[in-house]
Amino acid sequence: MTTLARDGGQKVRDNPFPRRRTMGDAEKQAAHDVIDSDDLSTFLGGPGPYFWGGERVQAFEKAWAERFGYRFAVSVNSWTSGLYAALGATGLGPGDEVLCTPYSMSATATTILLWGAIPVFGDVDPRTFNLDPSKLEALITPRTRAIMVAHIFGLPADMEGIAAVAKKHGLRVIEDGAQSPLATYRGRCVGGLVDLGGFSLNYHKHVHTGEGGVIVTDDEDLAKRCALIRNHGENVAETIGVTDGVNVLGHNLRLTELQAAIGLAQLARVEGYVTRRQQLAAHFAQRLAQFPFLRAPHVPDGSTHAYYVYPVLFDEQVFGAPRRAFVEAVNAELPTPEIPEQTVFSEGYVKPLYWNELYQRRRALGRGNFPFDLAPAGWPRYARGECPVVERLHTSEMLVSSLVREPLDEADLDDVIRAIDKVASALAR
Ligand SMILES: Cc1ncc(COP(=O)(O)O)c(C=O)c1O
Repeated sequence: MTTLARDGGQKVRDNPFPRRRTMGDAEKQAAHDVIDSDDLSTFLGGPGPYFWGGERVQAFEKAWAERFGYRFAVSVNSWTSGLYAALGATGLGPGDEVLCTPYSMSATATTILLWGAIPVFGDVDPRTFNLDPSKLEALITPRTRAIMVAHIFGLPADMEGIAAVAKKHGLRVIEDGAQSPLATYRGRCVGGLVDLGGFSLNYHKHVHTGEGGVIVTDDEDLAKRCALIRNHGENVAETIGVTDGVNVLGHNLRLTELQAAIGLAQLARVEGYVTRRQQLAAHFAQRLAQFPFLRAPHVPDGSTHAYYVYPVLFDEQVFGAPRRAFVEAVNAELPTPEIPEQTVFSEGYVKPLYWNELYQRRRALGRGNFPFDLAPAGWPRYARGECPVVERLHTSEMLVSSLVREPLDEADLDDVIRAIDKVASALAR
């Protein structure tokens, strides 16, 4: 039998997986034109046309809204800012509770705390890894105001189920589509399927502006409120017809003209990236099917996957050895990553968010327990075992690969398959 690379044998592949190259001539020209114009940002935090941002910011928002099929897009300087603005626009306040997925990047939940509201975590569906609507009703209290759903890894959540719970209980829905540009649910891009949500434009995303984000919605009032929170809204609110004073005190969450110009050029690329990832994912899934201990992503009928990363389920019982042994052995057969985008397999994604010290100690803002102390004692529970599916994914089942992306090709993925095959022959039961 051939010796595994981890035991001193030869690797299946030495030569590094190619890096992405994200900026091209269109971005260079766009950035150059902005610098030539000297208008690096023309926002002003007061009434008048400059409140809405400069020419490129507005052009970028218009183009994004059109491509994603929404009436309004509001750009922001990060998607963390976008989540914060979107939550604020729904009128959220101290002591309100928001049902939230525990299987997402931490900002999905921390932005709730920034409004003094409290995340209540519900378990996910074991096949989609997204919030399971059937688990939500048991968590609803008189203080519940909204549902924060993420379309994790690029796959839409069960929005019909989520919308039904929201409608029955009068809750707003915010979609964290950071990882899911152009992912569709029943033929429509995710983002504002119920109320509002949006996307990240940080460097790791399909398309990016270094840092940035975009909120989308069909609701004009919500769009205005996001724009107020983005840009010192207290100076402007009444002049644009928002007179209730709720959450209009603003920040500076503005995208620059330089970023917007680059964003416009990037927008032209997003469809190509998503389509290519879907082709690579289909190839990889077909090859992974030969391994009974691995399961390729499930894409429910009526949804399309954007494949920000590629999740694979690992069955330790069938394999006959722990996930760590598998991951270490496969990764050793392939080039050592120099950047996160070259990771062959990581063990799990993030830990269940409520395992974080922040929730365990209920310490978020200042020295006391605000806002957790606004809820009845012992609520939310944040206990181990609270969301068993997420905990199982985290501790033993989830593998995440960053290799199902351009500019890799099918032959690169076949090297991963050869590495898995070699390790399986040596290690599996
Ligand atoms: C699911 C999810 N939500 C929120 C964020 C935060 O986005 P940003 O980095 O643009 O602030 C990210 C970024 O990685 C993410 O993946």
